[in-house]
Amino acid sequence: MLCHTDYSEETLQALHTRLNPDKTVAIIDSNLRDGQRALLEPIFRVVPENRRLYLTGGEEVKSLGLVKEIALWLNRCRVTRHSLIYVVGGGSLLDFCGFVAAIYKRGVPIAYVPTTLMAMVDAAYGGKTAINTDDIKNLLGVFQEPNAILLDERFLTTLSDREILSGYAEVLKYALLEDDQFFAKVLTTDPLNNGMGLRELIDQCVTIKKRFVEADPYDLGIRQYLNLGHTVGHALEGFSHTLEPLRHPALRHGEAVMIGIIVELYISHKLLGFPLERMHQIVDFAKEFFSPYFFECKQYNDIINLMLQDKKNSGDDIAIIALRRIGEPMKINASRVQLRNAFDFYREVIGG
Ligand SMILES: NC(=O)c1ccc[n+]([C@@H]2O[C@H](COP(=O)([O-])OP(=O)(O)OC[C@H]3O[C@@H](n4cnc5c(N)ncnc54)[C@H](O)[C@@H]3O)[C@@H](O)[C@H]2O)c1
Repeated sequence: MLCHTDYSEETLQALHTRLNPDKTVAIIDSNLRDGQRALLEPIFRVVPENRRLYLTGGEEVKSLGLVKEIALWLNRCRVTRHSLIYVVGGGSLLDFCGFVAAIYKRGVPIAYVPTTLMAMVDAAYGGKTAINTDDIKNLLGVFQEPNAILLDERFLTTLSDREILSGYAEVLKYALLEDDQFFAKVLTTDPLNNGMGLRELIDQCVTIKKRFVEADPYDLGIRQYLNLGHTVGHALEGFSHTLEPLRHPALRHGEAVMIGIIVELYISHKLLGFPLERMHQIVDFAKEFFSPYFFECKQYNDIINLMLQDKKNSGDDIAIIALRRIGEPMKINASRVQLRNAFDFYREVIGG
């Protein structure tokens, strides 16, 4: 798995020397346009203004309609298989542009500059690209590693607390897959301390991800453990988008994963004896940093039905990643009753 190098004039030059692109284009999250002008300068120096495109990150970007629009824009820019696409943005832009770059003319080199914590700890690495279809997360996608990942945590200075916390849910996931020591470090670091201390956590998460991805690049075995919290999380995220205009704002990816972690660890506790003390530490952490998400018993079936779409499933069983204890993941099947009980638990302890 490709890891990051620091984002700087020098690393961009080195990348150009290595790839010798006939042309460069950049797709940049429009929320960076004003607040991060200075940090964007190195990109501006290698990509002319008429080949820069601004898109606003978010789940809506990961759509089939936009694939066509961007492919046509790349074509108007005369992008060839020897060009280089820069993507500067969060996980949604990386997932989407990675997908387009993989299928445009059967593959164009791409460099990721992740700008959210979620993208820095997770989305930029491992070569998964995807777009959504209706409420189904990541229904279409291909594996395609980028040619470079250029990291600068100063991008985080303009990110909202809500987005930092969304990324921090993935950091917690990595800690749960790793060991008690990393778990303790994650729980005692203040995620909202202006990015202080986050670089060390980012590097540690990437090291953990690399281990899983290299052992199982195509997600057929142990890489699926990185999906802890995601069977439930993806379903809730999709579900929240269906309700968005009617009720409260849709869940951010990491917010949904945080709920997924609680639900899946409750099942882990019931079926595998995951320690209650750890469970409570995680619930306390969630209560301190995340707003409760309100849903009702009568909606459980809709959420569970979305879980049937999960790529880990085979047949009609719903596969989740469970933990016997921190650092000991395994894939198990969860029944509807177990999932319903775990939703009850979430609503009881978090107040949703
Ligand atoms: N491919 C993978 O392995 C992988 C892993 C984890 C998550 N993901 C995907 O990542 C997506 C979520 O990504 P995300 O959490 O990064 O959110 P995002 O890309 O939707 O960005 C969140 C918001 O932050 C804004 N933003 C981005 N960078 C900013 C900055 N530096 N300052 C201010 N605002 C900024 C965006 O415009 C957007 O409004 C989901 O679609 C998820 O499925 C993919």
